[in-house]
Amino acid sequence: MKGSPRPPTGSRRLRVALVLSAVGMLAMAGAVVLPGDASAASTLGASAAERGRYFGTAVAAGRLNDSAYTTILNREFNQVTAENEMKIDALQPQQGQFTYGNADRIVQHARARGMQVRGHTLAWHSQQPGWMQNMSGTALRNAMLNHVTQVATHFRGQIAWWDVVNEAFQDGSSGARRDSNLQRTGNDWIEAAFRAARQADPNAQLCYNDYNTDNWNDAKTQAVYRMVQDFKNRGVPIDCVGLQSHFTGGSNYPSNYRTTLSSFAALGVDVHITELDIRNAPTDAYRNVVNDCLAVARCKGITVWGIRDSDSWRSGESPLLFNGSGQKKPAYDAVLTALNSGTGPNPTTPPPTGNPTTPPPTGGQCTATMTPGQSWGDRYNTSVTVSGATTWSVVVAITPPQKISATWSGSPTWDSSGNVMTMRSDGSGNTFGFTTMTNGNSTARPQIRSCTSG
Ligand code: G3I
Repeated sequence: MKGSPRPPTGSRRLRVALVLSAVGMLAMAGAVVLPGDASAASTLGASAAERGRYFGTAVAAGRLNDSAYTTILNREFNQVTAENEMKIDALQPQQGQFTYGNADRIVQHARARGMQVRGHTLAWHSQQPGWMQNMSGTALRNAMLNHVTQVATHFRGQIAWWDVVNEAFQDGSSGARRDSNLQRTGNDWIEAAFRAARQADPNAQLCYNDYNTDNWNDAKTQAVYRMVQDFKNRGVPIDCVGLQSHFTGGSNYPSNYRTTLSSFAALGVDVHITELDIRNAPTDAYRNVVNDCLAVARCKGITVWGIRDSDSWRSGESPLLFNGSGQKKPAYDAVLTALNSGTGPNPTTPPPTGNPTTPPPTGGQCTATMTPGQSWGDRYNTSVTVSGATTWSVVVAITPPQKISATWSGSPTWDSSGNVMTMRSDGSGNTFGFTTMTNGNSTARPQIRSCTSG
């Protein structure tokens, strides 16, 4: 077996999937995973992965030299978003001159540790470099599209999700687009950005990201919902919606948050909680956010907007999970307990209608070849290439206590033991991959049981 490593980031059809072994068997026995169980994961990222999600954080390149910071980052999180380093002013300070150093540093730090990366953000009215702020009309539209194309091309293969457009709607009751130089180039600027991003990186999932879109009854939430619905109806390439969820400084966690998540998901897009922080970090609100995400199958993960309170853009409000000394706060315990008690890929909310299950394969044989990928202390990647079919179904078995914690470029389903995965083609190509947690067994390797075309 040979081939280059292929980490789990940067694939259009990346799907994080839970192995059902522990949860499935406990569910059959009528048991519940209790906090403090020997089986309970001890970090946010590991627990989220067991539930088919990620748990991430915003990262500042300038803090990567702080070992107290990186110790928590590397231990707790399996997804990162660059807090400022992928914004337009950071990447293209002068027109036509791109500076990728700090962004690349964050991406490399993350990928070297098997963390997925969210790109933030390709097009935004804010944090534009001076040259762009002074532009308008066709020149600005072209400059924006060129930025999207150049940046998405630079990071192609490394970014799991892009915030293609950020914060394009007004607050308040109007439900209107936010006035900005980009908006004044024409109402189609958002879809133009999405199309350019898809063309530049067909494997990245493309998201619209905004704040104050958490309360289902708010005009802004409804306006974003209608835009996503319209994009889906017209075939504009959008895969996901990010709810920033800054429950701090004037916007509280709404009791209908789960309705908002499931309503967007029912449009056929994934939902992500992208910038979570909550003023004074109340345990109840943090717990509720986690439970709401776990209840919605298409809620793919949660990113908190910084690690320690001292790292926060609102450090005075102490809104994060670790205090300035890097100690876990009560909110951390509430989040971990909620994750460990939560559901896996079998959601408590039924999958949305209009998202039909894949019919069983009907055809003949194909060939599936396994290639080992990158490996880390506690996990390793495997990619599988199928030949002899364009649509296919490959059955892979793993040896417990090993567990598959993430998959990409295919649609996985699991048997009741959680040890046998059936991966179906999802149109993204003939190679899929997955990450396996060794859980103490570092020698066993996955086995291909069958490859069926059709
Ligand atoms: O790096 C410079 C430093 O050299 C200079 O001395 C200092 C004083 O002006 O500024 C520093 O840059 C600051 C940068 O953060 C890094 O700390 C900028 O002024 C400051 O504006 C910037 O704030 C960021 C803010 O976005 C800008 O809009 C925050 O860190 C960042 O957390 C925040 O993130 C946004 C998301 O992108 C979108 N959603 C809302 C969220 C919170 O505002």
